[in-house]
Amino acid sequence: MTVHPTFLNLIMVVKKMKMGFIFIIIMCLLTPVQRAQIPTVTISDLSFKNIDFAMNLYRQISSSHDKNIFFSPLSISASFGALLMASGGVTYDELLIGLNLEQLQRAEQPELIPKLFQLLHENITQNGSLKLDQGMALFVHRHFGVEKAFEGQIKKFFHANIETVDFSDTKRSIRSINDYIKNKTKNKVTDMISTLDAETQLMLISTIFFQGSWQMPFNPNFTHGASFYIDNYNVVQVPMMVKEDKFFTMEDYPLGARVLKLPYQQGVSMLILLPNKGMDYTVIDEDITAEKFITWLKRLQKMCCTRL
Ligand SMILES: *[C@@H]1O[C@H](CO)[C@@H](O)[C@H](O)[C@H]1NC(C)=O
Ligand SMILES: *[C@@H]1O[C@H](CO)[C@@H](O)[C@H](O)[C@H]1NC(C)=O
Ligand SMILES: *[C@@H]1O[C@H](CO)[C@@H](O)[C@H](O)[C@H]1NC(C)=O
Ligand SMILES: *[C@@H]1O[C@H](CO)[C@@H](O)[C@H](O)[C@H]1NC(C)=O
Repeated sequence: MTVHPTFLNLIMVVKKMKMGFIFIIIMCLLTPVQRAQIPTVTISDLSFKNIDFAMNLYRQISSSHDKNIFFSPLSISASFGALLMASGGVTYDELLIGLNLEQLQRAEQPELIPKLFQLLHENITQNGSLKLDQGMALFVHRHFGVEKAFEGQIKKFFHANIETVDFSDTKRSIRSINDYIKNKTKNKVTDMISTLDAETQLMLISTIFFQGSWQMPFNPNFTHGASFYIDNYNVVQVPMMVKEDKFFTMEDYPLGARVLKLPYQQGVSMLILLPNKGMDYTVIDEDITAEKFITWLKRLQKMCCTRL
């Protein structure tokens, strides 16, 4: 049985200034990929396209500042994937290209891409052990008519609800939206929005909640202060978690970086990318593609006594 990634780039964390060298943390579920349900295009194709979308988006975000970055590419692509069903013409084409999904589109199967998102979501969450909750809701102004067909589709493919609000009552709308987000994130994200334009007609809210336990937990007693290298010139002292054990790792020599996999108990993993000494992480950023990513997953090997 070969291992295919069915789900990638749920969450990307890239730490720069505060925490030092680049870390790209990407969740991946290593299970065989479903081939039967849709003849020509599969959820692994969607995953593959989503990785490149994620990296392109990451490069865009990181080019404008030097702060730490934390985002969920899957939430972003699913949100715009949902909007595809409500768009046409040039808008539709632009969304598809922006999402890097134009190659998966089939003119005779207009519901194919939404269906792939649905199957991917089901494949990730069906096995109830994973504490992953993706939420989507469209808050629409009460004068705004939503076509029944769209309401049905967005519910079917994205489990999204349509909530009617009176945006001219900004205080109340803010409270409704914040309550929704707070509930969906198990009280972790509160007061997400503080202001709202009274002219707002529609807001798409997307949430994601993940909680996992390490297969090999760190002992907090071993945490101690250590140097963290942001780049060749900047070093900060941070509390460093420590663990000595066998881990899945691999060296990407052409890239000049090491990959480490930290598995959770629930069948997903965190991948950490650590540039070699002296490597400029911005050069590495440019080179990360879905193809490279899949190669890493295939070549990861359990190595003795990696010290974290
Ligand atoms: C995902 O798809 C694969 C391949 O069909 C299947 O073996 C696996 O059980 C699925 N996972 C879930 C959680 O449905
Ligand atoms: C979120 O709302 C649901 C349905 O109203 C409720 O059952 C659940 O307990 C709420 N969760 C939190 C964390 O408040
Ligand atoms: C950490 O140290 C305390 C005090 O020595 C000890 O009671 C505790 O069991 C240790 N924790 C672990 C996970 O080893
Ligand atoms: C879910 O998947 C994980 C990882 O593959 C596995 O350890 C666990 O037994 C599965 N749980 C169920 C209920 O199938």
